[in-house]
Amino acid sequence: MTRVFSGIQPTGHLTLGNYLGAMRRWAEVDQHRAESLFCVVDLHALTMDHDPARVRRLSRQTATLLLAAGLDPDVCTVFLQSHVDEHTRLSYLLECVATDGEMRRMIQYKEKAAKERGRGGSVRLSLLTYPVLMAADILAYGTDEVPVGEDQAQHVELTRDLAVRFNQRYGQAFVVPRATLPQVAARVMNLQDPTRKMGKSDDSGAGVVYLLDEPDVVRKKVLRAVTDSGRDVVHDRAERPGLANLLDILAACTGGNPESLADVYDSYGSLKKDTAEAVVEVLRPVQARHRELCADPSYVEGVLRDGAEKARALARPTVDTAYRAIGLLPPVAEPSLSAAR
Ligand code: TYM
Repeated sequence: MTRVFSGIQPTGHLTLGNYLGAMRRWAEVDQHRAESLFCVVDLHALTMDHDPARVRRLSRQTATLLLAAGLDPDVCTVFLQSHVDEHTRLSYLLECVATDGEMRRMIQYKEKAAKERGRGGSVRLSLLTYPVLMAADILAYGTDEVPVGEDQAQHVELTRDLAVRFNQRYGQAFVVPRATLPQVAARVMNLQDPTRKMGKSDDSGAGVVYLLDEPDVVRKKVLRAVTDSGRDVVHDRAERPGLANLLDILAACTGGNPESLADVYDSYGSLKKDTAEAVVEVLRPVQARHRELCADPSYVEGVLRDGAEKARALARPTVDTAYRAIGLLPPVAEPSLSAAR
């Protein structure tokens, strides 16, 4: 059976981009057709300046929202990365096959490091090595497919390179995975600056729709979305990015096609109004389920406990194989009591 793995960072409140680019597909498609694991990657949240209490809070909230979005612990595995040591065990081995040049070429590293330096801060080493930990997340589970938004495609490419290199040098240890992207909304853009991705760590929330935004807040943000100076409604990502973004969001929410939807509208106003309502409707059931789950935190804790146990059992043999392949001796078993006597 196909094995699917994907992850999400608890670095901010989850956004419509996370939902349309990744989570919705995990819930609606992946978990039903593949053996799937979905991970709140809390170790990744430590790569930038962080507040421990906030990471704890957001880790719980992210896990709760994954369940609210429809992940069903009876058919898939939901867990926290830090509960399964195999991720960091494997990450070190992969650091021994990755190069520093490869790491420095990663777009997200370049962007985040530049931002941090611009603020006068220092860049954590873990920000540079982060894609290796991500590769370990994926390779530890013999993953075939990694459903992600477009911004993660480069990291999955790196993961493939590392898997191939390791297998060639040290013998077959890993399945070589591939990224799967959604057909529409693979990159939802910031509503105030449609040349930038809508991100959970964006400085201003005005261009970001959060999954837990009240309906009226969602409406206001969508209605105030920056559009372009033209008048006609066309889908042209290069020339009219604001408009294309709204059409993509509407298409993703209604199951339509952005190009054909462009033909339906003759004004920006009506497009914005329909997009706002479509987003409100998509978020409504997620928010309702989130409220129910918040009333029962022990349920979420139980899901995470069971999930970590299942994940550990799956990852252990693959990571042990990689340890042996790269040249590390297995620990010598304790002499049995009878032999010691
Ligand atoms: P993260 O936490 O930034 O995002 C989680 C998922 O949401 C997608 N996404 C988007 N899709 C479309 N439009 C957007 N504006 C948008 N913003 C986010 C992301 O592509 C991602 O699929 N490095 C990863 C987390 C990670 C991971 C992994 C993913 C760690 N280990 C292993 C897959 C497999 C990240 O920062 O995602």
